[in-house]
Amino acid sequence: MYVIKVPLGVRSYTISIGNTLLEKLGPECKRLYLGQRCAVFTDRNVAPRYSEGVLQSLKTSGFEPTLITVPAGETAKSLKVAAACYDRLAEHGLERKSFVVALGGGVVGDLAGFVAATFLRGIDFVQIPTTLLALVDSSVGGKVGVNLKAGKNLVGAFWQPRFVLCDLDTLETLPVREYRAGLAEIIKYGVIHDVELFKRLEQAIPKLLQRDPDTLSSVVARCCQIKAGVVGQDETESGLRAILNFGHTLGHALEAVCGYGKLLHGEAIAIGQVFAARLSAEMLGFPQRDVERIAGLFEKAGLQTHIQLSPAQREKLLEAMRHDKKVSQGAVKFVLVNKIGQVSFGQPVPLDLVEKILAEPAVRTAGAESSAGASTAHSTLRAPHSAF
Ligand code: NAD
Ligand code: GLY
Repeated sequence: MYVIKVPLGVRSYTISIGNTLLEKLGPECKRLYLGQRCAVFTDRNVAPRYSEGVLQSLKTSGFEPTLITVPAGETAKSLKVAAACYDRLAEHGLERKSFVVALGGGVVGDLAGFVAATFLRGIDFVQIPTTLLALVDSSVGGKVGVNLKAGKNLVGAFWQPRFVLCDLDTLETLPVREYRAGLAEIIKYGVIHDVELFKRLEQAIPKLLQRDPDTLSSVVARCCQIKAGVVGQDETESGLRAILNFGHTLGHALEAVCGYGKLLHGEAIAIGQVFAARLSAEMLGFPQRDVERIAGLFEKAGLQTHIQLSPAQREKLLEAMRHDKKVSQGAVKFVLVNKIGQVSFGQPVPLDLVEKILAEPAVRTAGAESSAGASTAHSTLRAPHSAF
């Protein structure tokens, strides 16, 4: 088992990564003297698989849990669902010392964390991530929140969990599309911070796709270690933490414009990362061969690297970007790559250049089958027309 510390003074906590960890939930809550009443948040896909074991572990350790099951998918990250959850917590008699357990992917984690951060002005919460994306990213660092029609995560808080339990056994039931989406966040850590991880992934993607336990646990641990280090230095994103948003400027806009849930978060930021790499080539002289290397790694992971848009669709996307990140003087801020393993945040990119790269065809990689300039079926996604 790997144990990683997130160093945040009195709010420090550990991330445990290993197998058969669900049964450790109750004893760990007891060790931390968490209050007796608690609520386990989960969604309709995760509940039938894992909630029984989690409830049992809590009950055996003397806790009184109630189960709150929300619909699966991005639409559950809403103020409406949060309001219904507050009522359930009040009905079950949760008080200041009570706590919330988030059992699920990033949606459940963000929602449950947001409810915990705001109910009774803040109660404890624990993260049990069950998607690859949540294991390596969303369960760590305390960003919690819900979406508005105007954009993703527009209402939220920084609210750190008391601990994170990453039970890799839960990944056995994760659908392959969701699993691949999680690989997008893993590749991100290589690009933004760790060239050795990037190189390792270039070799290890097939083993990761097979969910090989040793490869998976060591890669997940390395990603959590990188995130813990960044969050430990800049909890509330006054600077450095922004590097974790690599690929998110375009990615968030794509999610909003395509309709939440149509394009998974990981799928959107895979396209966003390759796009940011292309901008980096134009703005910082980032080598074209490294743009292709990054695109090639996403392709190996089975992820799309480009989205083909009509002029009208491009305009909607630019509009969404203007909303998501403040545009000043005709430029939008991006995280750009200096070299693989090192990025710069807060880089203003002229909207004209954003538009130009959006209109260009996909990056041609060594694995691409078609001739230069043509988008490959493998790497290009056509935006759903109905979404615009
Ligand atoms: P998700 O939570 O929607 O889960 C994906 C799907 O997998 C859902 O249908 C879920 O029911 C199902 N599922 C989850 N675990 C399963 C399992 N073990 N077996 C079978 N099915 C399972 O999606 P996600 O990709 O985990 O999270 C995406 C969300 O995370 C987005 O809202 C994104 O904005 C957010 N996010 C937050 C942060 C953060 O720092 N807070 C970081 C990255 C992403
Ligand atoms: N996922 C971005 C962050 O935690 O800051």
